[in-house]
Amino acid sequence: MSGTRPLRKVNQLPFGRPWVAPSLLAARYDTLATEVAAVEKGGAEALHLDIMDGHFVPNLSFGADLVKALRPLSEMLFDVHLMISDPLTYAPRFQAAGADHITFHVEAVSQPSQVIQAIHALGCTAGISLRPGTPASALLPYLEEVEMVLVMTVEPGFGGQSFREDQLPKIREFRKAIDALGKPIRLEVDGGVGAATAALCREAGADVLVAGSSVFRCPDGDYRRAIEALR
Ligand code: DX5
Ligand code: ZN
Repeated sequence: MSGTRPLRKVNQLPFGRPWVAPSLLAARYDTLATEVAAVEKGGAEALHLDIMDGHFVPNLSFGADLVKALRPLSEMLFDVHLMISDPLTYAPRFQAAGADHITFHVEAVSQPSQVIQAIHALGCTAGISLRPGTPASALLPYLEEVEMVLVMTVEPGFGGQSFREDQLPKIREFRKAIDALGKPIRLEVDGGVGAATAALCREAGADVLVAGSSVFRCPDGDYRRAIEALR
């Protein structure tokens, strides 16, 4: 199906206004199609899809079949976050299912450039992420090769955790490095992002805000308002 639908590129869609990417992990699983439609109607640019293998992280989420089932329901950019030990093997399945963008973790692989090239060969944009305990220096050598960097502001594996303010210096460090490179690389943050912490992230230089609980579990159920509150 991805043969007919044009891929959306994270680095070609407009910069300037921060994007919001609601994380499906926090959605109601008994009404997923309605949930996806609601965040799209609420103005979300991307849908963040968290893939967990019970090995790289101590939790399981969902796989490519679910991504495939949701693909025809939405025009949003599908932002797949692989929290798995073997991104090289599984990336093609997510591209075939309809992923536009695929992010993997630098800690999971021995040759990040090889994985980036494989993702690009699939026609997707590539992202690289790091755990809170991993320094920016582990990722900086690959910055030029990717279209997005994902700074985890919680330990990956579970939604609903508290934002880690100790990651703000890392966001600033990547913002400086991206600006110095002068390339259209997005800076995404993920974990504990709500209205207050989104402001800290924006101020530090992030321009893509992943939000699970603060959107899908907002108290009044008004996803549009929750999304706007993040920008
Ligand atoms: C955590 C995931 C996140 C998570 C964010 O491992 O990568 O995308 O769903 O959820 P909240 O916004 O609830 O912290
Ligand atoms: Zn995520």
